[in-house]
Amino acid sequence: MRRKIIAGNWKMYKTVAEAVELAGGLKKELGGFEGCDVVICPTFVCLTEVSKVVAGSCVKLGAQNLYWEAEGAFTGEISGAMVKSTGAQYVIIGHSERRQYFGETNETVSKRIKAALKNGLLPIVCVGENLAEREGGKTFDVVKDHVTGSLAGLTKEEMNKIVLAYEPVWAIGTGKTATSAQAQEVHAYIRKVLAGMFDQEVASATRIQYGGSVKPENAAELMGQADIDGALVGGASLKADSFAAIIKNAVK
Ligand code: PGA
Repeated sequence: MRRKIIAGNWKMYKTVAEAVELAGGLKKELGGFEGCDVVICPTFVCLTEVSKVVAGSCVKLGAQNLYWEAEGAFTGEISGAMVKSTGAQYVIIGHSERRQYFGETNETVSKRIKAALKNGLLPIVCVGENLAEREGGKTFDVVKDHVTGSLAGLTKEEMNKIVLAYEPVWAIGTGKTATSAQAQEVHAYIRKVLAGMFDQEVASATRIQYGGSVKPENAAELMGQADIDGALVGGASLKADSFAAIIKNAVK
């Protein structure tokens, strides 16, 4: 049985003070909640302070990216060890906004995953097609390319530590959610790809989140699908009450 995992991607929102307030609000909303794994991913500069707020609670911390080198003259970059030192346990890798605006490719995603694992961080690896690819009937090809390219060379043991997030780019921040049937279809396909790359055990054990305009109103229906194991939430994770409602609805 796969335990559900709901993660909030705060993107480039919230100052340190605002992030501390939001994390505190979420902690209060959730109390002693134990129904699934909960992760929040603020910006790098907020990690240390937010870590103090959520310490000892059900809310775990993640970063939104990392650089693959251990250290060196890489101005503006943050290493896996640095992320880990903040108290973060997870890291989002290969988000479509990074693929779209910052030149992220399967190759760089793969390097970041390896760096994360080396530093004891759990990667949340994002895959998904854009609107032109969906309309051109290329969804499965693109998703397969992202999954196989990003996870190439990983062992079965390493796959235990990976969470995948299927995020159709056309559904991110647009209010346009994939229908639960559209999402389920791709999630099931991703398991088939994993079975081919690794084996049935990895395919059945890997948690696959859905992301793209997840809200309290659609969380239960999406999370009720056989192959959807949680959500990666952007906009609706920026308010404690709506994110808490998604989390509670997801495990209903
Ligand atoms: P959204 O973002 O929930 O605002 O659509 C999801 C994401 O980008 O992870």
